[in-house]
Amino acid sequence: MRIRSRLRAILVAAVALIATLGAVSAAPASAGPRIAPRIINGDPGDPGAYPFLVSLLQPDVYAREGAYNAQFCAGTLTTSSTVVTAAHCMVNQKTGSILDASEILAGFGADLRESGIRVVPVAQVIVSPDYVRSRAENDIAVLVLAQPVPDVPVLAPASPEEGAALTSPGSSVRVVGWGNTSTTGRQFPDVFRVGRVTVFPDGTCGQGEPFTVGGITFKGFGPDEANSAVMVCAAGATAAATVIDACQGDSGGPLVGGEGAGTRLVGVVSWGNDCATRYPGVYTRVAAMYTFLGQHGAIPPPVTTPVQAPGLNVVAEPTALRIEFTAPPGTTDVAGFAATVLDPATGQSWNCFAAPDAKGLGECTVPDLVDGTAYQVTAIAGTPSGNSPVAGPVSSAPSPAAVAGRIVKASTLRGGRAVFRVTPSLGADLTTNVLRCQPVRRGAAVAVPIAGAKVVVRGLKPVRYSCTIQAENAAGSSVSTPVRITGRR
Ligand code: ARG
Repeated sequence: MRIRSRLRAILVAAVALIATLGAVSAAPASAGPRIAPRIINGDPGDPGAYPFLVSLLQPDVYAREGAYNAQFCAGTLTTSSTVVTAAHCMVNQKTGSILDASEILAGFGADLRESGIRVVPVAQVIVSPDYVRSRAENDIAVLVLAQPVPDVPVLAPASPEEGAALTSPGSSVRVVGWGNTSTTGRQFPDVFRVGRVTVFPDGTCGQGEPFTVGGITFKGFGPDEANSAVMVCAAGATAAATVIDACQGDSGGPLVGGEGAGTRLVGVVSWGNDCATRYPGVYTRVAAMYTFLGQHGAIPPPVTTPVQAPGLNVVAEPTALRIEFTAPPGTTDVAGFAATVLDPATGQSWNCFAAPDAKGLGECTVPDLVDGTAYQVTAIAGTPSGNSPVAGPVSSAPSPAAVAGRIVKASTLRGGRAVFRVTPSLGADLTTNVLRCQPVRRGAAVAVPIAGAKVVVRGLKPVRYSCTIQAENAAGSSVSTPVRITGRR
């Protein structure tokens, strides 16, 4: 009995595929009572909410009649250049032959009737070597796009750990697609539909156990029908206790779990016993396909929050603190640094921010502080995936003592002459503020008073020099980090 219904389900899938390849799938509604348009009992999709949903189109039909009539399956953009879909969308269910990449276009756009839908050719079709046609096991395939679509947000496939959490029994997940919205006829939407469905326990997906959702008790699939190791069973109920399910035309499309940054592809629409019956819909268990997906480049690189704090150095200046940052080791995506300066005596605090340069360095200054007060400075690095741990606190007190400026740029030494770009030395009433170049081996130093951002040093010999800025006032003196210049003969 169950085998029969299961066989029937596969037959339906096969017929649907054959039919759709004949471009009948999106035919106008035929006779029969019109049920409210839906996945089956879904809701209209928010066009912006599922940007990674891809329509799979037959190129010849697309060229003649547009996307609405050409759509035969769906898929999910999991990286900028890979679409994950169902193997049964790619494999002729009678002959086992696999579609050629030239027979598929990937469509981006929520509304299949929209004239400006974006289509991208497919370069390669990879069907899972473990796909078992007769049992619809491991019903998964990867399409490699001919051109990447870096501007379209992707949906990452769930890893085994993520999948276990997101498909625990009772989890709420969403199925989206342009499949049939009618249980009695053929009715296909322009804009994809969204169905809120509940993940069933594994016992319903291979051990024939029933499960009740929203007052509807569903039957389970037995061992000859489903295999929960590689399949997820799910269905939903509306407030009016009608069944929510995927249907023909939804195949290959995503079952989406989680929220926000934790949203993942947890299933691929695979098969069912007709649509919206007392049996759940069956989805390929994506987490169980993780190795296959990884082997074919369909897993995006993980987004990692920095595990280490940024490097933090605090330079005391007159009435200010300059904060220097270095990116945490191993992070390449630092969006910005932030420092907090706290006066522990009063609890007052100040912030400053810096963007990293190409080397991952940044600096910012908190002005209007009080000389001689010991402040506590902490810092973090921010990345798109989150903030680093906190660096510091470093204690530092602004000081009236002179702070030497820095040599930002030094020309090579030519004709006894070198040109420097410098930042100003700080401190009131500087008694010394010079750029001084000392031969590295032996010989006389040359010092030039600093007046402005550009300093020209003359009278140099064609040897190697170490140059610094030296500044002094009544409260103290300071020497900058040396910069070497080399003379050319
Ligand atoms: N195999 C169908 C297709 O080709 C999808 C079936 C999903 N059915 C269901 N009741 N969930 O579109």
